[in-house]
Amino acid sequence: TEQGHILFLPGDGIGPEVMEEVKRVAGWFGARGLVFALDEDLVGGAAYDRHGVPLAPATLEKATTIGTVMFGAVGGPAYDDLPFEKRPERGLLALRKELGLFANLRPALVFPALAAASALKPELVEGLDIMIVRELTGGVYFGEPKEVTSLPDGQERAVDTQVYTTSEIERIARVGFELAQKRSNRVASAEKSNVMKSGILWKKTVQRIHDTEFAGVELAHVLADNCAMQLVRQPKQFDVIVTDNLFGDILSDVAAMLTGSLGMLPSASLGAPDQHGRRKAMYEPVHGSAPDIAGRGIANPLACISSFSMLLRYSFERGAEADMLDRAITRVLDEGYRTADIMQSGATRVSTSEMGSRILDALDRLAA
Ligand code: NAD
Ligand code: IPM
Ligand code: MN
Repeated sequence: TEQGHILFLPGDGIGPEVMEEVKRVAGWFGARGLVFALDEDLVGGAAYDRHGVPLAPATLEKATTIGTVMFGAVGGPAYDDLPFEKRPERGLLALRKELGLFANLRPALVFPALAAASALKPELVEGLDIMIVRELTGGVYFGEPKEVTSLPDGQERAVDTQVYTTSEIERIARVGFELAQKRSNRVASAEKSNVMKSGILWKKTVQRIHDTEFAGVELAHVLADNCAMQLVRQPKQFDVIVTDNLFGDILSDVAAMLTGSLGMLPSASLGAPDQHGRRKAMYEPVHGSAPDIAGRGIANPLACISSFSMLLRYSFERGAEADMLDRAITRVLDEGYRTADIMQSGATRVSTSEMGSRILDALDRLAA
């Protein structure tokens, strides 16, 4: 009997390559009784090629009904000059918005075996475990007006609008505080209250939610630019970072590099629970479609595999299986298997599918 239903949206570039390995992992669990009904559809450039739009209405409908999505990556040079609304990225943004996935959890975890793969000195990142909580359905990504107009003198004028309401800030702040309570009980809230109206509202609202609901959690307010600097200077000072859509995008790429590679970072995008306590969710690696290495079978599938582990944990309450998958990843890295992006001297270089095979093998041994 099926324990859940998942929609796979592999997308473009390395998206389908890394998703292939996730399917093998899902198959491994399926063979051991954790069976999911699996659906698959096109998104991004692949959907544009077939349907002329980056997210077909029927695909959005499927995502809404199924409610749990494994997403690969979208985009690529072939689509960079399309009209704005047809760009592959619009498909991803529409999914986030339409499914109401306001809370984007981006853990940055340094695996012991990879401390030396970081761009920073190993002692700065050893044992690092940060959770970036990025607001995902508001801010400058979605604010109106968003437009380009022509000026009388022949110039163009482009506008993006940063907007946040109190309730949008409250709900993401709560997600951050709740996570902190299960971790090291510290939240840093990053904004630009020194120059932005929305930053002032952000800071004030996070402080109020803290004082009224989470007074026991340690809260620090940090300006987003300083936060970027602190992440590189002394990353271990952070536990949970709560921030807006754009700052969260940038800060999570910074955090990614602390862990050694963008190819290692998973994410979960969660909606609000409905009356049955179920929440819509999408799981995706933080990285993109990596056009520079697509089609060569060398992409690191671990970010995507680890996103599947987050899916098991957050959508299906399969913490034990998620722990097992996380342990398999740690073990394979400890045993020295590396895709090109995390290659170190003395390690064994493997392809995307060989890395998948190593994970299945480690799962076999953990299950034995
Ligand atoms: P990118 O994340 O695709 O690649 C950045 C660099 O990291 C590249 O050198 C790439 O080779 C490397 N890299 C990324 N993932 C890797 C992996 N799993 N294994 C090994 N190396 C990996 O970012 P970009 O180059 O700025 O963007 C390329 C395209 O992807 C653009 O169209 C962009 O809009 C899109 N994008 C999509 C998503 C998404 O779908 N969630 C996220 C970011 C970027
Ligand atoms: C990410 C990506 C997306 C974003 C793009 C592809 C729309 O960079 O998920 O981090 O900016 O949110
Ligand atoms: Mn990004």
